Amino acid sequence: MTSPTHPSVLTVCVTGAAGQISYSLLPILANGHVFGINQPIALRLLEITPALPALSGVSMELIDGSYPLLRSVVETDDPAHAFKGADVAVLVGAFPRKHGMERKDLLAKNVPIFQKQAYALNQFASPDVKVLVVGNPANTNALILSKFAPNIPPTNVSALTRLDHNRALAQVATRLDVPIHSVDGVCIWGNHSSTQYPDVVRASVHGHPVLDKLGGLERVAEDFIPTIQKRGAAIIKARGLSSAMSAANAIADHLRSWICGDDRIVSMAVHADGSYGIKEGVFFSYPVRCLGDGDYEIVRGIDLDHFSRKYIDATAEELYAERDEALSLLI
Ligand code: NAD
Ligand code: LMR
Repeated sequence: MTSPTHPSVLTVCVTGAAGQISYSLLPILANGHVFGINQPIALRLLEITPALPALSGVSMELIDGSYPLLRSVVETDDPAHAFKGADVAVLVGAFPRKHGMERKDLLAKNVPIFQKQAYALNQFASPDVKVLVVGNPANTNALILSKFAPNIPPTNVSALTRLDHNRALAQVATRLDVPIHSVDGVCIWGNHSSTQYPDVVRASVHGHPVLDKLGGLERVAEDFIPTIQKRGAAIIKARGLSSAMSAANAIADHLRSWICGDDRIVSMAVHADGSYGIKEGVFFSYPVRCLGDGDYEIVRGIDLDHFSRKYIDATAEELYAERDEALSLLI
């Protein structure tokens, strides 16, 4: 993969490119804040056919932005064309949850989308493409994508839980009235859903543990955990639309950490390899260490207490059920 130290053009594909997350994300990608200020990029933007007129407006705005690092913009409704030579693919486009839809209905709409995109990525993307799935249900969409893109190593596919991670950092900082950058040791386990486990058992500020200052486990269970689990729904209720600015910022953070490396432990939903007793194959959010150039490792050796284990098992069960539902839709 091209890295920020090698200034050949990096091909970045974004799906759902005329949607609200992409509207906040594309300028961040174009201005060098993700892949580095010396890294030129070529954007390949995918949309469904009815959204192509809106996409052409987004493309005009990107051109009018006069971004020095932005070498080209391609707009298309054809996944094969969109993913051609992609070094990085950010899969934001998905069928949205509509009123009265159950999880199974949402999966039924999204499984074929991610299956089709998997075939195209498998065939046309760079062999070392890094794929970030954002469209919900993100973890299970990533599983489907990985299943139908056998040429792409499962470790090159991830789903976004960095937004939940950032939410957890911000809530700790707010509750303790400390700067965000002083907070460490927070992570998200499991599904990007209301069963996720935002873990502050090892949270620290300037290296000092803060669980007691957060009120201890009982208070964390009553207040902190549900706040993070329900934050997405709270934003939808307030805005009438799901989070977009903070989601775009989290995508940028995720990609920067993954591609360029990060000193801090972050949260990413990655292919489970059996770590912490999670069944292999589901995309499970873990604390990870990003080593640079797209390599990461799941943080090992955390001694999980009973409190954490209960939450982790519950979110794992939800992911197994989603996996089974998604796979049953393929038959
Ligand atoms: P949006 O509806 O504004 O935009 C989605 C875009 O995707 C639309 O323009 C739509 O035309 C397009 N699209 C739909 N199907 C497509 C397909 N098959 N190929 C290409 N494009 C397609 O939605 P948004 O607010 O940008 O959110 C996008 C997704 O991200 C949603 O599924 C949302 O739930 C999810 N999301 C995830 C996180 C996370 O942390 N993982 C956070 C926020 C939102
Ligand atoms: C979020 O966490 O803000 C979104 O995933 C919510 C949603 O359902 O789109």
